[in-house]
Amino acid sequence: MLLAIPNVLTAAQVAEGRKILDAADWVDGRVTAGHQGAHVKDNAQLPEGSPASRQVGEIVLKALQANPLFISAALPLHILPPNFNRYAAGQTFGTHIDGSVRVLPGGQRIRTDISCTLFFAAPEEYDGGELIVEDTYGSKSVKLPAGHMILYPSSSLHQVRPVTRGTRLCSFFWLQSMIRDNGQRAMLFDMDVAIQRLNSENPKHPSVIALTGVYHNLLRQWAEM
Ligand code: NI
Repeated sequence: MLLAIPNVLTAAQVAEGRKILDAADWVDGRVTAGHQGAHVKDNAQLPEGSPASRQVGEIVLKALQANPLFISAALPLHILPPNFNRYAAGQTFGTHIDGSVRVLPGGQRIRTDISCTLFFAAPEEYDGGELIVEDTYGSKSVKLPAGHMILYPSSSLHQVRPVTRGTRLCSFFWLQSMIRDNGQRAMLFDMDVAIQRLNSENPKHPSVIALTGVYHNLLRQWAEM
């Protein structure tokens, strides 16, 4: 499931983040690419755990925890600290797949179920730089307004098309979901959306409680923590 989550950050939060990111020290993104990624990756990245990365990462994580659409779609168990990348004109990240397991500094292993890209630059600021994700139904091209985020299964092949003008600035990160299986997670999301709609149109309908019960019982059956 490929899902856009609008307005994860307000315009003020984007501006605050950009001020910190603009003043930060960036390094060659190839240093963190795996064997497969290093050949096709050409961008700049904030060093993981650097002060700027942590500071803006906090803004992102706080906003996500207060975002019901994100929670419903991702059912997050562990969210990895957000990373940041920057593509200047001529830079690109060719087709690749993200590593399946990431190790936190403390040694904890996190399975990457969902990949997230949160845009910090407006689409008008750069040409190219689309995120292309191979979905079940073909490839999708994604370029969202600043403050919006796309979430897609980490099992998908994806690439960032070459930037031909301006600068593309994004946060990217992974999460382990309580629901490992993409199909089960998508069904729970569809069900939650339908329950919310029924509840807003007909809050007293007895099916609201019945369906909410089914939702939670499925979550109880499938969730791992
Ligand atoms: Ni990737």
